[in-house]
Amino acid sequence: MFSQLPAPMLDPILSLSVAYRNDPRDEKVDLGIGVYKNSAGETPVMQAIKQAQDIVVATQTTKSYVGLAGCEQFNQSMIDLLLTGTSAMDRVSAIQTPGASGALRMLGDLMKVAQPNTTIWISDPSYVNHKPVMEAAGLKVRHYRYFSRDTKQVDVDAMMADLRTAGKDDVVLLHGCCHNPTGADIDFDAWQAITQLSQKNGFTPFVDIAYQGFGDGLEADAKGLRYMADNVEEMLITTSCSKNFGLYRERTGAAIVVANTKQEADNAKGKLMTLARSTYTMPPDHGAALVKTILGSDTLTQVWKQELSQMQKRLVSLRKALCDELKNSHGTSQFDFIQSHKGMFTVLGFSQEQMTQLREEYGIYGVGDGRINIAGLTEKDIPYVANAIVRVA
Ligand code: LMR
Repeated sequence: MFSQLPAPMLDPILSLSVAYRNDPRDEKVDLGIGVYKNSAGETPVMQAIKQAQDIVVATQTTKSYVGLAGCEQFNQSMIDLLLTGTSAMDRVSAIQTPGASGALRMLGDLMKVAQPNTTIWISDPSYVNHKPVMEAAGLKVRHYRYFSRDTKQVDVDAMMADLRTAGKDDVVLLHGCCHNPTGADIDFDAWQAITQLSQKNGFTPFVDIAYQGFGDGLEADAKGLRYMADNVEEMLITTSCSKNFGLYRERTGAAIVVANTKQEADNAKGKLMTLARSTYTMPPDHGAALVKTILGSDTLTQVWKQELSQMQKRLVSLRKALCDELKNSHGTSQFDFIQSHKGMFTVLGFSQEQMTQLREEYGIYGVGDGRINIAGLTEKDIPYVANAIVRVA
């Protein structure tokens, strides 16, 4: 049975963590997988999570099954965080999923059942798992142009030109904020233009928002998504608590469907539950129980929002510190674009060979597509990393 299987390909992101761990050099810096580190280089459990954990341990009376859709209060909280104030609130449904990757796959499977001919358009470049997940769900994948290698910003004209060819059997996958891997986000004008194009040409928007709160804040990061949800008949959304609640290993996410009517949204949810049953049955509970506990308490919500806001502000200051170091110690403003990017990631514009050089010569681990994780930097790494960037450029 297994003799014909090829040797496994390494995951371009997850394999870096293993290589980093095995690297004996003291000066090594892990800018690979999207994990937030504090100034001490640690990824601590957030205070709000710790307090919620105490409450859950003290009050949970059973470990019996929850249900195919996971925790319904958690699902409602995810809908509230993303869609409050929009007309979509009356025609939406959600299931809890094992992380946002689980949500991507469930919505991929849903599209395959509901509209077998679907082509899904993803940005070039995009999160490395988007294409594999959608292809595994049996969908056709196409790319739309997104990032200008010259300006290191979104090439909105090229993007719109490609999206103008998407039609009613198509789904367009957008990043809600903090584009992975580039860090370059579309502005509100582009959100409006894509919404109008969707109304005119009939494609369905799909928004993956795995970093809400890391760009400009919880509300600002959902602004484009909310406008779109308010103005289109149908929309798909995936969200994650990995980053903004620091729940990486707890695999806590949600798949959300906005439909024409509440009945249609509920029908889609029913299908998602059937699909979950034949895949993993139901999601793990712990992470969702913690998020539900936090968002169900005004006090804990305040603690969480404050911590999230501190992380967001620190990302902005790390970007500035890196640009300042490049300018002041190396006299270059070539990388000033880093400061205009949002969230955890930035694409430096380096080739695969240059990323290999960063890793082999300096022990700096970024992803092969040129992505570095700004949230993996500590203040003390900045001179070392800036020097390496300049040497490799
Ligand atoms: C990343 O892009 O680094 C994260 O989203 C981790 C993952 O799941 O690939």
